[in-house]
Amino acid sequence: MYRDRIRLPSLLSKVMSASDAAALIQDGMTVGMSGFTRAGEAKAVPQALAERARHSPLKISLMTGASLGNDLDKQLTEAGVLSRRMPFQVDSTLRKAINDGSVMFIDQHLSDTVEQLRNRQIKAVDLAVIECVAITEEGHLVLSTSVGNSASFAILAKQVIVEINLAQPLELEGLHDIYIPSYRPTRLPIPILKADTRIGSMAVQIDPAKIVGIVISNQPDSHSTILPPDVDTQAIAGHLVEFFKHEVRENRLTDSLMPLQAGIGTIANAVMHGLMDSPFHDMTMYSEVLQDSTFDLFDAGILSFASGSSMTLSAAKHVEVFKDLGRYKPQLVLRPQEISNHPEVIRRLGIIGVNTALEFDLYGNVNSTHVCGTRMMNGIGGSGDFARNAHLAIFVTKSIAKGGAISSVVPMVSHVDHTEHDVDILVTEQGLADLRGLAPRERARAIIDNCVHPAYREALNDYFIAACKLGGHTPHVLRDALSWHLNLEETGKMLAD
Ligand code: COA
Repeated sequence: MYRDRIRLPSLLSKVMSASDAAALIQDGMTVGMSGFTRAGEAKAVPQALAERARHSPLKISLMTGASLGNDLDKQLTEAGVLSRRMPFQVDSTLRKAINDGSVMFIDQHLSDTVEQLRNRQIKAVDLAVIECVAITEEGHLVLSTSVGNSASFAILAKQVIVEINLAQPLELEGLHDIYIPSYRPTRLPIPILKADTRIGSMAVQIDPAKIVGIVISNQPDSHSTILPPDVDTQAIAGHLVEFFKHEVRENRLTDSLMPLQAGIGTIANAVMHGLMDSPFHDMTMYSEVLQDSTFDLFDAGILSFASGSSMTLSAAKHVEVFKDLGRYKPQLVLRPQEISNHPEVIRRLGIIGVNTALEFDLYGNVNSTHVCGTRMMNGIGGSGDFARNAHLAIFVTKSIAKGGAISSVVPMVSHVDHTEHDVDILVTEQGLADLRGLAPRERARAIIDNCVHPAYREALNDYFIAACKLGGHTPHVLRDALSWHLNLEETGKMLAD
């Protein structure tokens, strides 16, 4: 019945129910599951595992590529399955468990996880659970809507459970480019010279004898929940487009810009959307997540190629893209996340990286992860992989949050993910600060004048003047540096009205 999906006949005997497959997962195991930004995650086995744990408790360490869809992190958290989780998540139930200390969360650069696994710096993966659209005649795995860390999990794990998801079309075959770097210290350069270079195989090459179970599932990916562009996100996009035009006039960029990376979420998607009304053309993306805007830019004839690690689309865009996947396929490739986010490749290609900050400070340090320095939001994701190595490291955010109770521009960030050394351009709906070549005191001036919301501008300016009186290369009034965050914790607002 599944011969077009399971093409190595000897594997047909491995087909089993999701609960039988979940029974292969033992208490204390480290499990690597497919899934990256709610795309291509194993679905039936983790659901069955959560069900099993409700009457027969067990705990595992769970690694994925990035976030899972279909509420899986919620279900696994509620069932008490997770003792450790890495390297990224976006689920509010899991977030609560991380912040109350009941789940140990390792927030990691997305390119790093499998390097550490390969080099035995972290505990090995006992078992991998990987969503596929098919298994080839050789027993190799054809992945679905994400690659993430799936290839390395399957290669490094002792045992592999495959979920063949009939809801994912076979047409996805051929989209993937699976390349695994060789071992250090004799590793060869990764030969990607352009966003569209293909360097690997279309399927994950494993020994089929490792496949201990095959589960047939039929459940779609969750759709993305990004909001449409609003006045503020359109203003952010507008400032960036003007900046890119300026760079073209100065001969630092061409009309095709450089390959673009865009972070997750509403703001980054809106920024990419802003390029629809720009004079740029023949652009390429070398990114992680391909969102709705990627396909809108294809349709507008502005984008010629997109390399990513997953496709995460809204419900409407999913229908549109999947009914015509053959048309988009020559313009797309999905890579392992250690390759989509690889510092070597990002440096070589000269990526323009656009990521979102929770808050940034006077000097350009960026906090992407911790609310008031303590409470984890999602994780650093790939933003650090790109920011440190990009041709242009750009961070965007709205200048205020929670109806104005919070300023996203603060005297000192309460947690640092991206240091001032890694940040070139900051953008809010108020304007854009170009920090390249500026000393800290000059950076502060550019940020106050261009990025801060008017309600906070005077207070930040006063802080800066007081700090400069005390002196220092990077002036601060240490007693007051985190006072805005303290006010927020104590009164619900960073500053009194
Ligand atoms: N303090 C506290 N909360 C803040 C805040 C701040 N300074 N700034 C924003 N928020 C809140 C918003 O109010 C919103 O809360 P809500 O969900 O209750 O409405 C939430 O954070 C998300 O902010 P939003 O403005 O909607 O932006 P977003 O959806 O684009 O998310 C990040 C912003 C920073 C959380 C998100 O981009 C992220 O997790 N980034 C890190 C990972 C990353 O960059 N990956 C890129 C490569 S994968």
